[in-house]
Amino acid sequence: MSLKLNTKYLEGFVSGEDLGKLKPETEKALSFFYENKSSAPGNDFHGWRTLPEDYDKKEFAEIKAAAEKIRNDSDILIVIGIGGSYLGARAVIEFCKSKNYNLLPGAKPQIFFLGNSLSPTEITEVLSLTKDKDFSVNVISKSGTTTEPSVAFRIFKRRLVEKYGEKQANERIYVTTDRSKGILRREADENSWKSFVIPDDVGGRYSVLTAVGLLPIACAGIDIDKLMKGARDAMNDLKERDVEKNQACRYAAIRNILLRKGKFVEMMVCYEPDYTMMNEWFKQLFGESEGKENKGILPYSGIYSTDLHSLGQYVQEGERILFETLVSFKEPKCDITIEKEENNGDGLNFLAGRKLSYVNKTASQGVILAHTDGSVPNIILELDRMDEENLGYLIYFLEFSCGVSGYILGVNPFNQPGVEAYKKNMFALLGKPGYESQTEKLRARL
Ligand code: PA5
Repeated sequence: MSLKLNTKYLEGFVSGEDLGKLKPETEKALSFFYENKSSAPGNDFHGWRTLPEDYDKKEFAEIKAAAEKIRNDSDILIVIGIGGSYLGARAVIEFCKSKNYNLLPGAKPQIFFLGNSLSPTEITEVLSLTKDKDFSVNVISKSGTTTEPSVAFRIFKRRLVEKYGEKQANERIYVTTDRSKGILRREADENSWKSFVIPDDVGGRYSVLTAVGLLPIACAGIDIDKLMKGARDAMNDLKERDVEKNQACRYAAIRNILLRKGKFVEMMVCYEPDYTMMNEWFKQLFGESEGKENKGILPYSGIYSTDLHSLGQYVQEGERILFETLVSFKEPKCDITIEKEENNGDGLNFLAGRKLSYVNKTASQGVILAHTDGSVPNIILELDRMDEENLGYLIYFLEFSCGVSGYILGVNPFNQPGVEAYKKNMFALLGKPGYESQTEKLRARL
């Protein structure tokens, strides 16, 4: 098993008795993936659960071939998508490669993520980067109608045609969308763009292990077989039906117990900056899955020790509404030994001969003791290495935990009705056909 749920620092916050009391609800939540599936809310979006085994092998090979072509003919890949059609790919690339991936020697293609905001500055900047470079575009949208990626795609489609002419431009567009529905599917078919499918039964925030994530990830030179293998290992481990032995069920139960004790905010923390975008992916996964019907834990995040110097004060002494989930890796990607200095001008010789990873680890130990003393319960998810297999395991573990946790909470973890509210207002304010009846009313409120 490559992930260990360490509950040592929950002492005094979550007891065996608490877990025992929640056991029937946890068992019921788990049964929604098995014998009670037909009555499970959102059961038409359970496809992610068997994906590490049941994925489309033919398409998987095509993803690898497309990635190879892009790696050969493009200096830059523009990945256009938002939310679940964006965060997973970026999180995996930055975690497995580096947060500074685009600056690393031999980073070909460089990968830029657009269509996740409406900022003209961001688009203008990346447009200027493509001026003298060969580039391709991977546009990702399940609905095919989301405004942010649609606008960015229109701009980059035009840029491709200006640079390469229509025929060659069409060979540099890769579409990931629904199998049969939506504007993007229609455009892809009409123009013979190479396209990949987002399965019907996999929702956006659960889609990183489909072509949504896999194509950009493979373009970055990351081993997608290993990523799937890690996820498959987790899937097999989490087939455990005893909720006391199933680590994802235990994590899900602990979260709900803490919530019921007034811990409304879960702060996922990691001592590795390359985890930054994984935090963002986690926030979408849990926030969009659980935040509904006036319920849910607010997912929050931090990179330590960086954020100890900005948020540390609040965590230690602010409102006691927080718990932390520390994602910890036994081995760093690489290490540095701190050298001795003859004059010890900076007073750091007490660390001479120590590895920087040891200092980082020791910081985390000091923090856990301080934060638990300050009434911040700490859950630890321990993994071995920062590699594809461990990450695939963690991704599946968090997805599974999120499903079980949402069911314990009593919501449908697989819909996102609240995301539509802002879209309707934006469309009405922009005068989109079909939304005009609300335009004046909304403008009057501004
Ligand atoms: O998880 C979700 O369903 C959302 O975050 C979507 O991924 C996001 O809104 C983008 O939607 P689409 O892929 O349809 O453009």
